[in-house]
Amino acid sequence: MCGIVGYVGNERDAKKVIIEGLRRLEYRGYDSAGVAVAQQSAIEYRKKAGKVADLEAAIEAAPLDKSALGIGHTRWATHGGPSDVNAHPHVVGDDKLAVVHNGIIENFSTLRAELEAKGYNFVSETDTEVAGTLLLEVYNTEAEGDLTRAMQLTAQRLEGAFTLLAIHADHPDRIVAARWNSPLVIGAGEGENFLSSDVSGFIEFTRDAVELDNGQIVTLTADGYEVTTFDGEAAEGKPFRVEWDVTAAEKGGFNSFMEKEIFDQPAAVRDTLYGRFNEEGALTLDELRIDEALLRSVNKIIIVACGTAAYAGQVARYAIEHWCRIPTEVELAHEFRYRDPIVDQQTLVVAVSQSGETMDTLMAVRHAREQGAKVIAICNTVGASIPREADAVLYTYAGPEIAVASTKAFISQIVAAYLLALYLAQVRGNKFADEIRGIIAELQEMPDKLQTLLDNADEIKQLGQDLANSKSVLFLGRHVGFPVALEGALKLKEVAYLHSEGFAAGELKHGPIALVEEGQPVFVIVPSKGSRHNLHAKVFSNIQEVRARGAVTIVIAEEGDEDVVEFANHVIRIPESAGLMQPILSTVPLQLFACSVAEARGLNVDQPRNLAKSVTVE
Ligand code: F6R
Repeated sequence: MCGIVGYVGNERDAKKVIIEGLRRLEYRGYDSAGVAVAQQSAIEYRKKAGKVADLEAAIEAAPLDKSALGIGHTRWATHGGPSDVNAHPHVVGDDKLAVVHNGIIENFSTLRAELEAKGYNFVSETDTEVAGTLLLEVYNTEAEGDLTRAMQLTAQRLEGAFTLLAIHADHPDRIVAARWNSPLVIGAGEGENFLSSDVSGFIEFTRDAVELDNGQIVTLTADGYEVTTFDGEAAEGKPFRVEWDVTAAEKGGFNSFMEKEIFDQPAAVRDTLYGRFNEEGALTLDELRIDEALLRSVNKIIIVACGTAAYAGQVARYAIEHWCRIPTEVELAHEFRYRDPIVDQQTLVVAVSQSGETMDTLMAVRHAREQGAKVIAICNTVGASIPREADAVLYTYAGPEIAVASTKAFISQIVAAYLLALYLAQVRGNKFADEIRGIIAELQEMPDKLQTLLDNADEIKQLGQDLANSKSVLFLGRHVGFPVALEGALKLKEVAYLHSEGFAAGELKHGPIALVEEGQPVFVIVPSKGSRHNLHAKVFSNIQEVRARGAVTIVIAEEGDEDVVEFANHVIRIPESAGLMQPILSTVPLQLFACSVAEARGLNVDQPRNLAKSVTVE
């Protein structure tokens, strides 16, 4: 959580660059924001509870002079509630030193007591002010006025997770930053350089980026940057070129990023499939870099993830077990390591994460590797912590996902996990080449099918408006439709604040059906008529069961499935597809529905209350 931007350059006004960057990073946290700029002999700053727009208003009311260097922050509160005083930057030492921070400093109370004993006073409740004060103390004593050295020594004393950026009035040409378990990238420009939590903070100005590693310190000036370890040893970042441009991080005429990202899904699937198989239809996942013999020896797969990414994992489990015949579990990452899971060298752990920074998932990855398992990350953010720490990565190429609610990442996570499953089936000989080709052909049809669905989005949007005042909404699905039901319910809770639950349709009669009363909206995801085990007929019975008890049934069914019409108050049509492909399509109406209900309720679709896009605390 929290977004951080730093800028130093010869031409632009630092505060403008920083505000622009904060606006793009606002999805990471939006309960307060602030900016500090360095003038010749002092730091000037403004900070405000609320959104970046509130900060801009504060700057308009009390303007800041043009400056060549500054740092900024948009916050998701951890230590200390959202208030002006707890907002970053924290400025200490007679307004000489300013810091912004992302993460949690776990030993902050010990450090605070130590600093108080030395006579320092604190005005906020934050761990960040403690880190800033420690930096000041070290700067004035051991480091003898060397800001880089002071940051190295301070970083050695901090425990927990932190990206810490500092500027000092006596060095108005540099920003010094430390990274530990929290993201930080450099944007490399001409005569100007940037720091940001992710590349969207500077994408407007440069696409040349440099990943920093855990345990590194960077000193950034307009003309370059120097990287060291916390011990002061020379080190290097890893340069990369950002493959998307600023237009991908803009709304492009849609009402919200969420809506835009729902409509990005045909392209997201196409890009995730692109280059992953050869002309004969054989999977060529070159980036996997894991010995095939090892993949053949795997006897169990554990998928670890949180939230929507975990639901993508649940969908993938059906495909992996069916295609590869490897027992597969899906575990919420934050539960995984605390139950002493049985993991060994023959276990393959698949960590699914859009941001690649989710702390719970990162900790699960570390735990799995400590136990000797190989870890493959499925991730959307190039160079993020999870893919860096995993043994191999399969990137989803969904492009930047800005809305807090995950949409296109979910769909492309399913596609990437299917590619991984097919690759395993190919390597282990579970499937013949022509079978794999057949499944790939089905995947290749998905972008067009998604587009057909999206071309009819208005009908679902209307339904969202009609049902916007419902008290609660239920979602039912079976087999791969079950995680889709869970995802539909999560989307509605998250963006529309509407009570919703997803159930396995077969579980209905074991309890949840008691919730159904006259007028209760119930979405039912109907498997294709050709699905195995006569699932279609079973779900058809479930529709009748809830309808008989007064439910308003909204049935998501394939084109041509006429059986459902009689018992549906509304039928939402999706293109026909093979059973395992259906989640890629059936999720979309649920995303559109949640988005439309949220809009009808007048909510901020992209920035739901209490949430942040990337959860970098445990
Ligand atoms: C829901 C949502 C969250 C994330 C979860 C994991 O719409 O966005 O549930 O899916 O926080 O995030 P990543 O995928 O970044 O690890």
